[in-house]
Amino acid sequence: MNKINNFFPALFIFLIGFSFFYFTGCGGDTNAGNPDNFSNVKKSTAPGMTAFEEENGFGPVKEKLNLAPVNMNLAKDGEKIFESKCATCHKLDERYVGPAQRNVLQRVTLEFFVNMVLNPDENLKKHPHAKKMLAEYMQMMTNQNVNMNDALALLEYFRALNEELEKTSKK
Ligand code: HEC
Repeated sequence: MNKINNFFPALFIFLIGFSFFYFTGCGGDTNAGNPDNFSNVKKSTAPGMTAFEEENGFGPVKEKLNLAPVNMNLAKDGEKIFESKCATCHKLDERYVGPAQRNVLQRVTLEFFVNMVLNPDENLKKHPHAKKMLAEYMQMMTNQNVNMNDALALLEYFRALNEELEKTSKK
C-alpha cells in the first residue's frame, strides 16, 4: 500500500519535470546555426529582457515602426548627419573603430538601429548583440546626442543603402 501511495506522486512529479524540459529545452535552439543574425530569434527570450527588447534593443522605440517607402530627401539629410557624427568611427564598407555600416540593416532591425543610435550606453551594457560587438571592437560607441528626427533621417539613409544592396543581390 505504501509503495503505491509513493509511486503516483513520484510519477506525477516526473511527468511535470519531463514536460518542462521537453518544451523549454527544444525552443531555444532555433538560432543555433546563425549566431550573428539575432533578429531571427523571436521565441527565446534572454534573461532580463522582453522578446521585443531582445530583437530591437533598449531605447525610446518600444514598438515596431510603421514606415512609408524610403524618403530620398530625408535619406540625404541622414547621409550628412552620418558624415558629421558617425564617420569618425564608421565607414560604409570597411571595419574602422566600429563595424562597417552599409549592411547594418541586414544585421539589426530598423528599431534596433534607432535605439542603438539614441541610447548606445544602455545597449552596450545590456543587449547581447551590442555586447558581442563591444567585445569584438573593444571601444564603446559614444552617445552622439542625436535627436529622434536625426535618428530617423539616419535610418532613412541606411534603408536607401539597404534597398540598393537588395537590388544588386537579386541581379
Ligand atoms: C566613438 C566612435 C563611434 C561613433 C562616433 C559612432 N559609433 Fe556606432 N559603433 C561604434 C562601435 C565601436 C560599435 C560596436 C559596438 C561597440 O563596441 O560599442 C558601434 C556600433 C554601432 C551600431 C550597432 C549595430 C551594428 O551591428 O553595427 C550601430 C547601428 C551604429 N554603431 C551606428 C552609429 C551611427 C548611426 C552613428 C552616428 C550617429 C555612430 N554609430 C557613431 C563606434 C562609434
